[in-house]
Amino acid sequence: MTAQDFILKSYHTNIENGSVKWESPSNIALVKYWGKKKDQIPENPSISFTLSDCKTITEITFTKKERTGFSFDIYFEGEKNEAFKPKIQTFFERIEIYMPFLKDYHFKIETSNTFPHSSGIASSASGMSAIALCLMSIERSLSLVEVTDEVFNQKASFLARLGSGSACRSIEGELVVWGKNESIEASSDLYGVKFEGEVHSNFKNYQDTILLVDKGEKQVSSTVGHQLMYGHPFAKERFSQAHDNLAKLKTILASGDLNEFVKIVESEALTLHAMMMTSMPYFILMKPNTLEIINKIWAYRQKTDSKVCFTLDAGANVHVLYPENEKESILEFIKNELVSYCQNGHYICDQIGLGANQIEF
Ligand code: DP6
Repeated sequence: MTAQDFILKSYHTNIENGSVKWESPSNIALVKYWGKKKDQIPENPSISFTLSDCKTITEITFTKKERTGFSFDIYFEGEKNEAFKPKIQTFFERIEIYMPFLKDYHFKIETSNTFPHSSGIASSASGMSAIALCLMSIERSLSLVEVTDEVFNQKASFLARLGSGSACRSIEGELVVWGKNESIEASSDLYGVKFEGEVHSNFKNYQDTILLVDKGEKQVSSTVGHQLMYGHPFAKERFSQAHDNLAKLKTILASGDLNEFVKIVESEALTLHAMMMTSMPYFILMKPNTLEIINKIWAYRQKTDSKVCFTLDAGANVHVLYPENEKESILEFIKNELVSYCQNGHYICDQIGLGANQIEF
């Protein structure tokens, strides 16, 4: 597939108005995407667990209008929101070539998250994928040719990527790969693909408890963050390491070797932060409590035979990952030893999920 293949060539605009609604989850990367080229093409492949409960729910109501510029309003949790407009404007500009009907309609975008606003959880993955899916449903109703589910998901992911890179990994579950990698045949830089390799039962219902260490605004926006990889002294090594780690993880997912899983996942998280600490300008996005939690997890693993591990995004919050059969003991451990490091004692329990769903009216 090339980007050209995603251009909608023939469509009608006989539909005067309508409404579509989707819920789309967040995802947590095991091998991290950090560094991108033009048009949101990743510098290296990544793989993520799709989450189940942390999601964005978006309804788009569209009404036919004169074919002038883009016209849309955004409501976030019931209130009109001007702050999100520039991001959506840029998104529409980027995807217009693939969705020429965008100027034929006014869009009312109503969106809300299942996780608390300002929890420090990145909502761009769930938010952008939910919008992309709604737009794909509209495209499906206008298209003169049949849009299969496969094409639908692929283009939804392709569009979501143009909104926010990691959003392209939120369409399907339970594991999604984005970025060309030799060990995964169907992989592409243009969209995420469902990981079709063998997955051991150890990973069934894998748990992710998100410890909210710092709920503040992101210190480094992802756009600025990715740019730090341009001319980064360790960039080349890092990009090739991500390829190797993805290939290793493919084997681990099949064998169910949780000790090896822990090594790759934690090393990826620390490498992401190491990249930020060694870029120019440099940043430390972990907080003292992030380190306290990491040390507690390591100590817990040493004294038990637990397979619990952590991963991080570009911030201070900690994702605690563990197999379902440890659910009870790890939740106990979190309550007893980790909650005190969370802002206002807040944490969110989630687990691996199956991907986005359309909500029928
Ligand atoms: C650290 O997808 O938020 O979470 O493409 O600029 O929108 P943009 O960036 P974004 O970057 C996420 C980076 C990460 C790692 C990951 O999810 O793979």
